[in-house]
Amino acid sequence: MEEERLVTSTYSETDSEIENVLRPKSMEGYVGQDKVKDNLAVSIAAAKMREDALDHVLLYGPAGLGKTTLAHIIANELGTQIKITSGPAIERAGDLAAILTNLNERDVLFIDEIHRLNHNVEEILYPAMEDYTLDFIIGKGPSAKNVQLPLPKFTLIGATTKAGMLSSPLRDRFGVICRLETYSNAELTEIVERAAKMLSLSIEHLAAEEVAKRSRGTPRIANRLLRRVRDYSIVKGHDTILLSDAQGALKMLEIDELGLDAIDVKLLQSMAEKFGGGPCGLDTLAATINEDGNTIEDVYEPYLLQLGFIARTPRGRVLLRRGYEHIGLKMPEAKAEQYSMFERNENK
Ligand SMILES: Nc1ncnc2c1ncn2[C@@H]1O[C@H](COP(=O)(O)OP(=O)(O)OP(=O)(O)O)[C@@H](O)[C@H]1O
Ligand SMILES: [Mg+2]
Repeated sequence: MEEERLVTSTYSETDSEIENVLRPKSMEGYVGQDKVKDNLAVSIAAAKMREDALDHVLLYGPAGLGKTTLAHIIANELGTQIKITSGPAIERAGDLAAILTNLNERDVLFIDEIHRLNHNVEEILYPAMEDYTLDFIIGKGPSAKNVQLPLPKFTLIGATTKAGMLSSPLRDRFGVICRLETYSNAELTEIVERAAKMLSLSIEHLAAEEVAKRSRGTPRIANRLLRRVRDYSIVKGHDTILLSDAQGALKMLEIDELGLDAIDVKLLQSMAEKFGGGPCGLDTLAATINEDGNTIEDVYEPYLLQLGFIARTPRGRVLLRRGYEHIGLKMPEAKAEQYSMFERNENK
């Protein structure tokens, strides 16, 4: 079901065709995230001046915001090789040991989904990160021996969407910790215009803005919507993507002006109509769209929370005033009073 959903920020196979082409290769091409870029630029410059490996870097934040892209850019700026793997791909401690011993001095090792490393593998990583040594035990019982091997000085870049699931000894070993934020509409417009250029497409500024506004603050979604809007425009026989193409395509795809799709709207409607605005449990809510609780939590809920349409309370999820308004309903007075503490000031 998720594969068919256009506005999910999680990676799908059809993205791969285009993601590698559109990935900016340098800091200049990487739009937004100014705090993170400034922070990294200083660390990278210092490492180069010291002729030393860059400190280990942790990149965290929601899917599709540019963690993998940034890891490649860091290696580029350092002028080193990047070796790519992921938490679930490293099954045994020996697998990680093999990767580590094959690195060259100052190389980048990128571990995606680093929160999914298993415990034995993580134990190997601690001394490797801290002292650049590989610690292991050979043999069993009384003849067992502790062996230490020196490793090249390398930089670990870890990426995760779930920083909270990282163990604290692991988190503490990163010298540079960067949190990626969702992008503003202006930044996303720039990303869409840049992507169009790389695909040799011509697009009206207003059309790029329209795509940006409906992309949930996420470059991956912006690139995906651009592709669909392009197809629509081609079928209409236009050689420039017009605002009307963007509007027409997104209407056809049932993505509304805030980037919500039919499933998001259904969720909001069930909360209002079936559950009287809540509080309702995650699983109950999930059942209304034939999904499980985890999917709601990871895929649907974050953006609705960000918009201030719903809130999490100790007793379950509740629908807030802006959520009611978005589906054309008025929040009942009693609920408005009851949930007023969860309402945020307008800021987006
Ligand atoms: N700052 C940016 N400027 C321009 N394009 C970007 C930027 N960040 C991401 N993108 C685009 O979005 C796409 C997705 O980014 P990326 O794969 O780096 O996300 P991610 O955070 O690693 O996602 P995941 O958590 O799913 O691994 C990239 O292919 C790239 O084209
Ligand atoms: Mg990634």
